[in-house]
Amino acid sequence: MKSVHIGDIDMQVLDEGSGVPLLMVHGFPLNHTMWRAQLDEFVPHCRVIVPDLRGLGRTPLGAVPTIDRSGDPVVSMEHHADDLNRLLDALHIDHQVIFCGLSMGGYIGWQFTQKYPDRLLALIACDTRAVADSTEQAAARMKLAAQIREQGVSAAADAMLPKLVSQKTKDQRPELVEQLRQMILQNSPEGVLASLHGLRTREDMTESLSQIPAETLLVVGEEDALAPPAEMEGLVDLIPTVNWLVVPDAGHMSPMENSTVFNQALMQYITR
Ligand code: MLT
Repeated sequence: MKSVHIGDIDMQVLDEGSGVPLLMVHGFPLNHTMWRAQLDEFVPHCRVIVPDLRGLGRTPLGAVPTIDRSGDPVVSMEHHADDLNRLLDALHIDHQVIFCGLSMGGYIGWQFTQKYPDRLLALIACDTRAVADSTEQAAARMKLAAQIREQGVSAAADAMLPKLVSQKTKDQRPELVEQLRQMILQNSPEGVLASLHGLRTREDMTESLSQIPAETLLVVGEEDALAPPAEMEGLVDLIPTVNWLVVPDAGHMSPMENSTVFNQALMQYITR
């Protein structure tokens, strides 16, 4: 990991390999280590850039706005995308990047694509959605925010873990579930709250999908409870140049739960 100064914070980022930049953007409320099973595979082929997003993992929250009467911090999806743009500048990357984002990383990907289209070589959107939160989902996030303020990040682990992986992963890979729990528990409550409010207030990006200037790969775990495959398949018709992959034996965390299928597909895509 190295520290890269991007304005008000030093972003913590793993930057290994050479060639075409592959930017891997983690989900909520996780950190860069969710991509562990991809690193060995892709570092020999590309320059793999894997940050901890603002306020998560080892990257500090910095000076961010507050939201609502709660006074909680907020980091919007656009703010995260701006950070990534600054990160690429700070790393002097002038080559276009393959942007690979999971879930929140995908929401950030839509923003990045809209705001920095010239930076994009290809987009890989994993286990993600284009619509905004429904009223019920936004209310559930408010409830979770209150629980995090009272109980700390363990409330986020309790709320998120049951939805992150497939039943098979729960039954057969307790170590993977534990790895996810530790990722969540290592975050600060402020950092988790900030992205949680960013998720709750994110915009509907459906209209922007027809403007994606680069080839796109949509990937989803067949048992994803948070980004349902049927909903994600609906995006196929909206994106100009698109490929579609359903990963068997996986829930929301498809790159971790079935890294064999995930990595094969990504490798084919990248080397093409
Ligand atoms: C994620 O994995 O990033 C989150 O599940 C996104 C969300 O809760 O909408």
